[in-house]
Amino acid sequence: MTTKRAKPAKAAKTKKAVIYPKVKKQKSTPAIAEPKPVHHAKPVEITISPAKGRPMLTWVGKKPLGLMNAFPAQLVERFEPKAASPVEKSEAWSDWPVQYPKGGLLFHGDNKEVLAHLIANGFRQRVKSIYIDPPFNTGVDYVRKVTLRGKKMEKIAGEEYSFTEQVQYSNSWNLDAYLQFLFQRLQICKEILSDDGIIVIRMDVHFGYYLRMIADEVFGANAFENEIIVNRIKKNVTNKGRRTIPNAVDYLYVYFKSGDAEYKNVLRKLPQKQQGYWHNMDSPEIPGPRSLSLSGKTYYPSPGNHLKFPQAQAEKMWEAGKLRENPRSGNLEYWVEEKDTINLDSDWSDIPGYTFDTGYPTENSEQLLERVIKATSKPGEIVLDFFVGSGTTAAVAQKLGRRYIGCDINRGAIQTTSKRLQTIIVDQIEEQKKKIHQGKLDLGENATEQLIVPAQYSFSAYRVNDYDLYIQHNEAVNLACEHIGITRTKSDNFFDGTRGKSLAKITPFNHPLSPVDLEEIKKELKARPNEDRDVIVVCLGKEHAVDSWLTDWNRLRNSGDVPNKINIIELRTDQKYGKFIKHEPAKVRIKVHRTGDRIKIEIFDFISPTIIERLNQQNGLLQVKIDDWRSMVDCVMIDPNYDGKVFNISLSDVPEKKNDLVSGKYELPAPKGSVKVAIKIIDMLGEEVVEIREI
Ligand SMILES: C[S@@+](CC[C@H](N)C(=O)[O-])C[C@H]1O[C@@H](n2cnc3c(N)ncnc32)[C@H](O)[C@@H]1O
Repeated sequence: MTTKRAKPAKAAKTKKAVIYPKVKKQKSTPAIAEPKPVHHAKPVEITISPAKGRPMLTWVGKKPLGLMNAFPAQLVERFEPKAASPVEKSEAWSDWPVQYPKGGLLFHGDNKEVLAHLIANGFRQRVKSIYIDPPFNTGVDYVRKVTLRGKKMEKIAGEEYSFTEQVQYSNSWNLDAYLQFLFQRLQICKEILSDDGIIVIRMDVHFGYYLRMIADEVFGANAFENEIIVNRIKKNVTNKGRRTIPNAVDYLYVYFKSGDAEYKNVLRKLPQKQQGYWHNMDSPEIPGPRSLSLSGKTYYPSPGNHLKFPQAQAEKMWEAGKLRENPRSGNLEYWVEEKDTINLDSDWSDIPGYTFDTGYPTENSEQLLERVIKATSKPGEIVLDFFVGSGTTAAVAQKLGRRYIGCDINRGAIQTTSKRLQTIIVDQIEEQKKKIHQGKLDLGENATEQLIVPAQYSFSAYRVNDYDLYIQHNEAVNLACEHIGITRTKSDNFFDGTRGKSLAKITPFNHPLSPVDLEEIKKELKARPNEDRDVIVVCLGKEHAVDSWLTDWNRLRNSGDVPNKINIIELRTDQKYGKFIKHEPAKVRIKVHRTGDRIKIEIFDFISPTIIERLNQQNGLLQVKIDDWRSMVDCVMIDPNYDGKVFNISLSDVPEKKNDLVSGKYELPAPKGSVKVAIKIIDMLGEEVVEIREI
């Protein structure tokens, strides 16, 4: 059963995308085995339609997105096991933009840029369901607990032992910047949502009401469907000595892009069978009789109501003892059978909102995503999560036969998602083989028609802009200060330090410097009218809009309106200061050789200087002795025919349990002729090394 709502006011007309230069249409779909990188020579401009509604929330630096540059993406990884039947060839995929290989899509990059890229490349209004769980601006740097594989870690009394902690993503902005961040993302994702699409946004109690105002503005207040409560982590919270009320729930804000959206009812299992009960027959619903005549007596509803069942049906129920006169009120009532499931309402607190299977902080539970995906999409439709984190949305979409797109700015998130999907797909192939074996599946001519679940057995990972230089934020800030010669000033709660006579501001390295960051500096300088020192802004990368912002600023400066010169050091491209971010890579000792038609690979040793360094930094913790290189390795992937650009995963060794080790010895069929064999080793800090051997 589905529910439909009245159409909200018509959407403001979206201007046509301005495309420069014209993107050549491909004539035919590229072969799955050779996915084409999504290239266009120059950035493409895409237009974002204006927000819809009022009332509006405002903040310093509020600026709607108008035009955005969409940059190309590079295909960096592909997983396409040969053993699976090619469901991607089915009709359901005919609407897939030809630029992309059919199958799941993962993007490493800032979601604003990734969404612009997707919109410019055929995904405008193609996505049926969006789920996002953005960072909550809690002022916390989430840490990923990293442990060595197969090592029993000694625990120091009172301390949660982890070999080292890695900052997964920084979650702290000031409120204005955070609201601007959310506003822009909602604006741009509206463009990718189909007209009958639904977006579900998770927020915590602190930001829910801001989010609601912003989403009302972007999608229109009529588009708001409901607010669902979900469980937060159930900690052993005691109120002893606490002065605060522990948070039990988060909120899901559900918006329908238009009245064409359909929310599918999902059943919730009751903890125990609900007993049958007598229910009043009055109903406000029309049509329904105004009176019923049963056993010679006439019954009426209470004023303003109707009776629920028509005469003929009521007579049958009366005879079967399922309809009666209430002994006290004299009104009609009918028997509701016992049930063990009911339709889901907006209280989802019966299931966990978080789980901790992948070790990624804030990993949402699969049960939660199962409900979201089932309620907002049908098999085969496209589901998007552009804050994908550990990949729960992609994983559940894969399990439920939906197509999916995931995106995250954190490379660790993309790795976690990729590993998770590989395991699921391999299991699904096994399952498929079993079914074929038992004769439950026919893989003949009509095979693809029969395989509704899953929608794909492959995925590709792309990178939009170069976020490969992702490094630990705090560590990087310290290093940057050291290398650029910045003296930290702890007493200043805005600027990070000074360099000579200049003030220094370091933009968090998890996002490119944007005009919003610069507006913050402008605001701060305005609040310090006597401050005439110049400002150095250090960032990892910068948005293009920054240059025009600086031109405007210099104009103000030249006309004497502001005294401070602003200089930017972009570490990613800076020849002088950027060198330190190129840290020492891990070393591998490996042997690759061909015997007949097989390739044999053996890894003898792996040393990560970063892990060793971190280990040495552990103060007060017992030093862990690494006697097996495999304890430092999270997983190994092999491409036996590497083309130098896209890593096609032919074999992946992802140990299932945390204590299991990778094998280190591999054998796989050798392609004909001379080939490059690429071996990707991902260590326990998420650092990747790719070793290439020609055989
Ligand atoms: C709360 S977590 C999402 C958890 C996810 N739902 C799961 O089940 O694991 C938020 C994610 O947003 C990512 N993120 C933050 N800013 C981003 C941005 N600008 N672009 C893309 N991803 C971003 C973070 O790296 C983090 O993985």
